[in-house]
Amino acid sequence: MSATSTIDPAKMASLIEAEEATFNERHTASRALTERARRSLAGGVASSWQATDPHPIYVAEGHGSKVVDVDGNEYVDFHNGYGAMAVGHAHPRIVEVVSDRVGKGTHFAQPTEQAVAVAEHLQQRFGLPLWRFGNSGTEATLDSVRLMRAYIGRDILLKIEGSYHGHHDALMVSVAPPGDSIGSYDDPVSVPQTLGLPADYVKLTRVVPFNDLDALERTLQRHQGQVAGMIVEPAMMNAGFVVPEDGYLQGVKDLLHQHGALLAFDEVKTGATLAHGGATEAFGVTPDLICLAKSVGGGLPCGAIGGTEEVMGWIAEGKIDQVGTFNGNPLTIAAMHATLTEILVPEAYTEFIRLSEILRDGCDGVIERYGLSGYTTVIGARGAVTYRSQRVRNYRDYLEVSDELAYVNWLVQFNRGVFMAPWGKSENWTLSVQHSEDDVRRYIDNFDYLGKALTA
Ligand SMILES: Cc1ncc(COP(=O)(O)O)c(C=O)c1O
Repeated sequence: MSATSTIDPAKMASLIEAEEATFNERHTASRALTERARRSLAGGVASSWQATDPHPIYVAEGHGSKVVDVDGNEYVDFHNGYGAMAVGHAHPRIVEVVSDRVGKGTHFAQPTEQAVAVAEHLQQRFGLPLWRFGNSGTEATLDSVRLMRAYIGRDILLKIEGSYHGHHDALMVSVAPPGDSIGSYDDPVSVPQTLGLPADYVKLTRVVPFNDLDALERTLQRHQGQVAGMIVEPAMMNAGFVVPEDGYLQGVKDLLHQHGALLAFDEVKTGATLAHGGATEAFGVTPDLICLAKSVGGGLPCGAIGGTEEVMGWIAEGKIDQVGTFNGNPLTIAAMHATLTEILVPEAYTEFIRLSEILRDGCDGVIERYGLSGYTTVIGARGAVTYRSQRVRNYRDYLEVSDELAYVNWLVQFNRGVFMAPWGKSENWTLSVQHSEDDVRRYIDNFDYLGKALTA
């Protein structure tokens, strides 16, 4: 049974129409800015993933758990900058340390003492001995790919079908491929996410379904002796929220090692949000490499890669160049240091879990009360409602999740003061240390309104 089969399609259509009308009325300034922006910014936005329907919302300010748009509407922020703001907006300590650093110089392209302190902290927190910095998640996963290929001396990479790891050529493959282009489950097609990827690169990146060790083993055998490594987001966070089944991540690591290949975790989204020690702690598996970004930076552009002595040793020995003008820049490092050592401390995760459990129980209560098909997943600061009655295990299941319910919930939340990430069912929410119980109850109340409106 599909998620929407119990809902009268006419009721759904009229609710969407009414909510879109309200949405448009409330955002005249955003619409005007979108028109103006189209004349100077390609598509009217700074990044293609800000170009969302019905139109982008221009944000003016953020304070604590709230953001205010250019029309003066205030929202509880569940988007949190695609999961980069677990510290919340304008956190007093971030404002203080960044302001202090600005007055002392923001960039030298020389080592600083505080970068060493952050690396020492990451070492303890994520259980890997050697680290480097970059400026984005894309840079971290790019470095992980280069390290795996160089260290193992093979070219083929494996990735999970339907996972996003940043916008470099090696991994812009089978990110969100249309269902009619993906081929068979047993031997998925590698689908370029964008024009401009050389066909030879695409061929070197093979995809496997999440949560299936047999499929991984078959793929490793098919490419015997050619696979350098695999990058895995330990929980898929760009296909709603798909969690690994018990034993899956350890099984992936074991299989890769048996085949002489490496495992990199993309913890760009999970790293500072699922648990104090990220997915590594939450699921009890330490990979060969970890890529970090987003919430570890307290709102500044950031990226980091950590790894074993052996693999990172190749950087130390100069066999691999890991470089960047702004790597370890003191402004980001000041924010990272305060974020990791003073704000996202173990007690923060205790409170994330308390608020997340309220959200999960509240949303599951709504689903049950109104007979919706779906379920709620929460871990640490992250969560999502998935509109499919059976649990999603992989990208092909995810394609069956209701787009319509995700979109109408997005509109209902937006029109009632909750800012959610655009792109409907692919996204999930991120709480911050500045979110309160009232904030999460607002989401539940809006979701209850939706259930009532669709089934009354
Ligand atoms: C899992 C994952 N990896 C990598 C990236 C790329 O990070 P960035 O946008 O900082 O380059 C993202 C961005 O959304 C992501 O979600």
